[in-house]
Amino acid sequence: LAGQSTNILWHDCPVGKIERQKLLKQKGCVIWITGLSGSGKSTVACALGQSLYRKGKLSYILDGDNVRHGLNNDLSFKAEDRVENIRRIGEVAKLFADAGIICIASLISPYIRDRDACRALLPDGDFIEVFMDVPLEVCEARDPKGLYKLARAGKIKGFTGIDDPYEAPLNCEVCFYLERCREIF
Ligand code: PPS
Repeated sequence: LAGQSTNILWHDCPVGKIERQKLLKQKGCVIWITGLSGSGKSTVACALGQSLYRKGKLSYILDGDNVRHGLNNDLSFKAEDRVENIRRIGEVAKLFADAGIICIASLISPYIRDRDACRALLPDGDFIEVFMDVPLEVCEARDPKGLYKLARAGKIKGFTGIDDPYEAPLNCEVCFYLERCREIF
């Protein structure tokens, strides 16, 4: 559906990102947390949100699971729907950053190409990719929602890490290694 709108012009307003950032005394940006299911993305997103709140910074979490309850409830987990899920969350995250808010996006986002496309929506330095580098065995042993068990039993098809791919970042800004993650679980 890309590029279906024609005859449209961008409309600028006198109050823009710079003015909003001044008002909020912070810089809008996107912190994009990627990793397998059960790798601790939501835990880190919430901890970060709390920490920013205590510092008086306005943030907002876009959690894959939560966004799929509303805006993205028409999307499944097949590849093209995941691509669209990532694209929409990338665009929404960009709007939040433009509003001057620190947007924490927390979703599996398994494909490098799509994460890079979200990065490309923002100015250099405004997209911070955080990789939850937790091996599949550890995520599976945790299995907080019991989904790996269902996937192994063939009751969920196309589960990331089991019978669907996850492409780890090649050059992310932040990497949470297993030992660090053990501290937060
Ligand atoms: S994606 O790949 O970025 O579109 O996924 P996301 O929007 O983050 O949603 C992941 C959560 O959905 C649950 N779930 C699945 N995950 C992976 N594969 C399949 N097939 C699947 N079906 C349901 C799962 O609870 C994920 O939550 P997290 O928080 O990652 O554990």
